[in-house]
Amino acid sequence: MSDKQRVSRRQFLNYTLTGVGGFMAAGMLAPMVRFAIDPVLTPQAAGEFHSVAPVEEITNEPQRFEWQVEQVDAWYESKVQKTAWVYRNKDDEIVALSPICTHLGCTVGWASNQEYPNQFYCPCHGGRYTKDGVNVPGTPPTAPLPVYKTKVQENMLYLGETQSRQGA
Ligand code: FES
Repeated sequence: MSDKQRVSRRQFLNYTLTGVGGFMAAGMLAPMVRFAIDPVLTPQAAGEFHSVAPVEEITNEPQRFEWQVEQVDAWYESKVQKTAWVYRNKDDEIVALSPICTHLGCTVGWASNQEYPNQFYCPCHGGRYTKDGVNVPGTPPTAPLPVYKTKVQENMLYLGETQSRQGA
């Protein structure tokens, strides 16, 4: 055997100890890394519905309902206040609109401006929406108010995510 191919006892021990040490280190570090990034890997509860109000409370006039949801942003958990304008339309279907103005994000109110008693009104820049949440042309918003997904179960209204709509 030539000298080039020979592995000394010292080299053999070095290789062996490095390999075993690396394997053990990986075994110890893997759970720690997994713990550290776990919130990022955990899928958020998409499509979650939240109980908002008994259906008998919902009338033809838009009413403001509020509820809280748990929000997890990576490692930070918090409660977030949610709001919807909810009413029954002419077909007796429940409509739940986001109150967030599609112009720059202020909060709209139903019939909150005496000049427009049957519209949603945004006090920030005079944005207006008809009862079905469609933006009034000629006012700052260029898209309708998003609608919440709705579900009725055991006489309770549940609301899910909002869905954006095309502008008027
Ligand atoms: S934020 Fe509502 S009109 Fe500008």
